[in-house]
Amino acid sequence: MIPVGVEIKETEVEPDDFEEMKRFVRDYLAASVENEDDGGRMRWYPWHSADYRFNHILNVIDLGADIAEAEGADVDVVRVAAAFHDVAKLEVDQDVHAEAGARIAREYLRSRGNYPESFIEEVCGAIVDHSYTGDLADVPLESRCLIEADVLDKVGANGAILMVLRMGYESRTHMDAAKMIDRVLERGRDHTDRVVSDTAESIAHQRIKRVQWLREWLEEEVSRMDADGVTER
Ligand SMILES: [Fe+2]
Repeated sequence: MIPVGVEIKETEVEPDDFEEMKRFVRDYLAASVENEDDGGRMRWYPWHSADYRFNHILNVIDLGADIAEAEGADVDVVRVAAAFHDVAKLEVDQDVHAEAGARIAREYLRSRGNYPESFIEEVCGAIVDHSYTGDLADVPLESRCLIEADVLDKVGANGAILMVLRMGYESRTHMDAAKMIDRVLERGRDHTDRVVSDTAESIAHQRIKRVQWLREWLEEEVSRMDADGVTER
């Protein structure tokens, strides 16, 4: 018997089941790269690799769960949607990857476990919504948590290191670093303007502050730092 006043949580995703979902997504990404014909998609950039994409997904799961908890959203919907949101990213074009990801998630969730259809549809709705670029007030709370988490992973250390890796691919030197980090800051500020929850906003501000420190640090210690030239290439 359920004691009076205890809310029944609609769907629980067991830790083992969640681990299996993550393994499925990791393997799916790896297989997408293996199956791909050469060329055409800038595979040499680190953010197109299966390793980067899976790591990004793990970051979005953690950030999404923190935001969802603080905002009173359904944490399991957000975590499962985060796990699958970019599963198709290396397989199909960017403009259809959200819908493709939702299809893969739907098939997975229907064939494994006993997830109610309402849970599956909430998860898939959030996955489709994650590519929405409009006002976050227009989407359900769970979608918003996922979008905020997705955006936050590009702000801060991860965004800065991706930019540094890209510099290597573009044969740049460390003298360019401050200018390149400026781009990370610019994008970070644009992303921060978009988030609405207090949790996401405070994470974004903390991350941007650290990137600013990195920017100042570079300028102070790299003697030939080119801090304000043209970075276009
Ligand atoms: Fe993402």
